[in-house]
Amino acid sequence: MRDVPVPPAPIALLAELTHRCPLSCPYCSNPLELTAREAELDTATWARVFAEAADLGVLQLHLSGGEPASRRDLEELVAAARAAGLYVNLITSGIGLTEARLGALEEAGLDHVQLSLQGVRAGIADRIGGYRGGFDRKMEVARAVVARGLPLTLNAVMHRQNMDDLAETLEMAHAMGARRIEVACVQFYGWALRNREALLPTRAQVEEAKRTVAAAVRDYRGRMAIDFVPPDYYADYPKACMGGWGSTGLNVAPDGTVLPCHAAGTIPSLRFQKVTEAPLSEIWTHGPAFKAFRGHDWMSEPCRSCDRRDIDHGGCRCQAMALAGDPAATDPVCRFSPHRALVDATLEALPKEKLPEMAYRR
Ligand code: SF4
Ligand code: FES
Repeated sequence: MRDVPVPPAPIALLAELTHRCPLSCPYCSNPLELTAREAELDTATWARVFAEAADLGVLQLHLSGGEPASRRDLEELVAAARAAGLYVNLITSGIGLTEARLGALEEAGLDHVQLSLQGVRAGIADRIGGYRGGFDRKMEVARAVVARGLPLTLNAVMHRQNMDDLAETLEMAHAMGARRIEVACVQFYGWALRNREALLPTRAQVEEAKRTVAAAVRDYRGRMAIDFVPPDYYADYPKACMGGWGSTGLNVAPDGTVLPCHAAGTIPSLRFQKVTEAPLSEIWTHGPAFKAFRGHDWMSEPCRSCDRRDIDHGGCRCQAMALAGDPAATDPVCRFSPHRALVDATLEALPKEKLPEMAYRR
């Protein structure tokens, strides 16, 4: 009999309202096969999901996409989430958010805005986002959010092509009035994995970024919080992805599929359920996809007998799938993994100068 612990309530729900998006970032975390508009959950079903999430114990709701502002009913969805008692965070590129719409969202109960940043200048930002004029639009939205007194977090996605601008990025975030910045280096799933050669930073860039962040954490203390997610390929041990599988949060895809993490759909052996098939509490507690990698029994060696197994939970299941072809394998970034040579070979083969063309999400 497998020892699968029953988890406490999840803290957060990430609602991927739509895969539609005006940007086409080459590191998009959406799947390679996008969900069509016709398959998206309707307003009433999302509202029911938010209520079920609150009953389950979820505290924070992250409205994401694609671009959530592509949904015409975003204001209604925010109001439904607020009525359910959830803290509502909007994760957005800013495109599609007018001053009037921001006002309506605030009125509906929006608590927080998290704005993605593709670069500190229009040239690189619009090239990476694949959307001309996107940077200027984003700056306007940032100003409007701060002017309303809504808390703003910037989500700066860093990679080889913009990492040398990190110090400038931090200065800009502070000047814009952001209360927090997440400096998130691209993690390699889906589109990012496809464009890995062009996006994976060099070791020298990563070392410099760590020094820049350490100095900035000191300099901005009390004025702006800084979170840093380094690229795990350069680490000795993997990240504790999702805080451990099925332990802290859950994602609902645009068509209602409930996932333990945003990339879980890349694991073909998992069986997922939709919010239209079973209550969220049932899926969270007993769903086969959620139970698959809880506890220790699924682990193989070296994780099974490792004294870090309750620290990093064997790393990321989706990365194990992507690199080793086995979702139960030790995350290949781990120095003890029998597949670590795959990661080292990738680092050694990084282009020295000219980077390859990127495949944009369309
Ligand atoms: Fe973590 Fe497994 Fe590596 Fe141990 S062997 S450090 S548990 S990934
Ligand atoms: Fe799925 Fe890490 S992204 S477990």
